[in-house]
Amino acid sequence: MTQAYQKGHLILDGVSLSVPAGQFLSVIGPSGAGKTTLLRLLNGMNRPASGEVWVEGRRFDDLKGKQRRQVQQQVGMIFQDFCLVEESTCLANVLNGSLCRIPFWRVLLDRFPRMEVERAREALAQVGLADYADKQAGMLSGGQKQRVAIARVLVQQASIILADEPVASLDPGSSQAILELLRQLQEKQQLTVVMNSHNVEQARQYSDRILGLRQGRVFYDGKPEEWTEAQFRDLYRRQE
Ligand SMILES: Nc1ncnc2c1ncn2[C@@H]1O[C@H](COP(=O)(O)OP(=O)(O)OP(=O)(O)O)[C@@H](O)[C@H]1O
Ligand SMILES: [Mg+2]
Repeated sequence: MTQAYQKGHLILDGVSLSVPAGQFLSVIGPSGAGKTTLLRLLNGMNRPASGEVWVEGRRFDDLKGKQRRQVQQQVGMIFQDFCLVEESTCLANVLNGSLCRIPFWRVLLDRFPRMEVERAREALAQVGLADYADKQAGMLSGGQKQRVAIARVLVQQASIILADEPVASLDPGSSQAILELLRQLQEKQQLTVVMNSHNVEQARQYSDRILGLRQGRVFYDGKPEEWTEAQFRDLYRRQE
């Protein structure tokens, strides 16, 4: 697959990868390598300039409208800056994950079905925030905000979590807790996780597989133990 923002200038160049269900894949590589661009192709925010994107056995890049949204529902996103509605409660933020299933009038009237509210509370409990349902999201710490964002993905009932530098704004302790939570969800609920990261150590510790991107191309793709120290170094060497 390729991606270009300007004609003739490829941001992703012949990137081909297949992520088996239930895998924890980390994507690493220098700034500008194309990591975020890759995630945007996987969640349908962008379409590839050439090539195909398949999600759960369906070609996705050329779908439109309802069919496209159905596939997109399978793909949850978490971001470095959490992307929460800070003025709303944690419960309301998590309920946003269920919007794809709820008739528009109910959303307008703020009348979510009781089952969805229950589901949102359960998701908060799952991420260790059972007592935070009525707290304003903006008042939480970064680590807690990222937990709310993960609960939102759980309520979305996505099978794939795309995480763009999910712990880059967090202190080491909170980072570790969030990565452990992601790993635990991946293992217990067979979720697929694709995480962009600048932290090689974390990528090694939590992933089944590490994809190195450099200047829009796959530099190396293998299990953490298959990567050599020299490869990690070379991935980040300055561009001449
Ligand atoms: N909307 C856009 N329009 C034009 N160029 C873009 C756009 N978004 C990204 N780019 C370019 O695409 C390239 C890859 O960017 P991308 O954000 O995917 O890199 P990244 O690997 O995620 O970097 P970082 O580690 O800094 O987040 C960069 O050269 C960037 O300038
Ligand atoms: Mg990025």
